[in-house]
Amino acid sequence: MLLKTVLLLVLVAQVLMLDNGLLRTPPMGWLAWERFRCNTNCKEDPKNCISERLFLEMADRLAQDGWRDLGYIYLNMDDCWIGGRDASGRLVPDPKRFPHGIAFLADYAHSLGLKLGIYGDMGNLTCMGYPGTTLDKVVLDAQTFADWKVDMLKLDGCFSTPEERAEGYPKMAAALNATGRPIAYSCSWPAYEGGLPPRVNYSLLAEICNLWRNYDDIQDSWGSVLSILDWFVEHQNILQPVAGPGHWNDPDMLLIGNFGLSLDQAQAQMALWTVLAAPLFMSTDLRTITPQNMDILQNPLIIRINQDRLGIQGRRIRKEKSHIEVFVKPLSNEASAIVFFSRRTDMPYRYHTSLARLNFSKSLTYEAQDVYTGDVISGLRVDTFFTVVINPSGVVMWYLYPIKNLEISQP
Ligand SMILES: *[C@@H]1O[C@H](CO)[C@@H](O)[C@H](O)[C@H]1NC(C)=O
Ligand SMILES: *[C@@H]1O[C@H](CO)[C@@H](O)[C@H](O)[C@H]1NC(C)=O
Ligand SMILES: *[C@@H]1O[C@H](CO)[C@@H](O)[C@H](O)[C@H]1NC(C)=O
Repeated sequence: MLLKTVLLLVLVAQVLMLDNGLLRTPPMGWLAWERFRCNTNCKEDPKNCISERLFLEMADRLAQDGWRDLGYIYLNMDDCWIGGRDASGRLVPDPKRFPHGIAFLADYAHSLGLKLGIYGDMGNLTCMGYPGTTLDKVVLDAQTFADWKVDMLKLDGCFSTPEERAEGYPKMAAALNATGRPIAYSCSWPAYEGGLPPRVNYSLLAEICNLWRNYDDIQDSWGSVLSILDWFVEHQNILQPVAGPGHWNDPDMLLIGNFGLSLDQAQAQMALWTVLAAPLFMSTDLRTITPQNMDILQNPLIIRINQDRLGIQGRRIRKEKSHIEVFVKPLSNEASAIVFFSRRTDMPYRYHTSLARLNFSKSLTYEAQDVYTGDVISGLRVDTFFTVVINPSGVVMWYLYPIKNLEISQP
């Protein structure tokens, strides 16, 4: 009887988990919004307006400049693409800015080994006032996106009531599934409900969405990065356990390459988002990005850490009086990522600590690779004291792994 009950529970759990098989590791790609917003002024600003030209050019950059091969495969549209609905009620793109239609863009992305993401809004209007997906349009819009061979949907939540969102987000999950096309599903729902229980049910979200925006939109400033980080850390006991393969918290886009962050702050955002197992959506002009910013976004070891197959979201484990904070993300093969983060505003700080102080307890010998400098620190045991020098609003990030054979040789 007990066995039967257990089996039944396992079956129920399997049926309930979102089972589209997608995003077993956090999605990586490019998303238009933070950098290009709702710029529809193609007359005066043809290179930067929301139009098929922008997406075709970004697709080329993703494919040709090494991004795609590192995992940045999603080319994602955001608000301001919609022209209206046709006589049968189907969404159509703005005919001037997207003259060849969305299926054409999807085909182009696919021809380069990329995936196309689109944007909709669960409500009367999108946030910028374009036609939304009301409850009666959910099934039709899901089918339209599938017909266009779209690969991801970000469903925003402007101009709807909490009741409409509670009905609409699960309804869209079912409608996407019913199309038969695997379409990753990004839900802005929790951000509209304050991001926390009891108004937000994260078990339910993990069953219907592949990722979800928990909190405010990111803006191009360090203050915005800090406010999002602070909120994620304050609520890490709630947020950390709900992330995993196929279902991710989303602290919003990377600002790297834009105007608001210093190089140290850019390294810090990349490191912090990576230990949070966050989706890595760039939102910058890939046609003009500098080599320094490209190096941060294309760091192969950071990407490997973000894409670790266990998909465990990291936590902040230390908050020192010195305004140094330490984050740890457990990785496969007993490795870990450690981020030493400085909130100081004076000068590089010499932080003395040991792995024991960072809650490591195994009697192993470790090696660490500094993710940004490539330096290797050898012979670390849990009680070994070491010093890292952390720049103001900067990070030192380590990939830490045990050297096992030394331990096992003498049983
Ligand atoms: C739809 O859901 C079923 C059951 O969870 C799953 O097996 C299937 O792969 C899903 N199909 C798509 C296209 O997401
Ligand atoms: C959506 O539109 C309907 C019909 O015009 C209106 O009654 C309703 O108040 C609107 N809802 C929101 C949340 O704006
Ligand atoms: C949250 O959603 C899960 C899965 O749908 C459900 O089993 C649970 O009862 C919900 N929790 C609350 C507090 O409503």
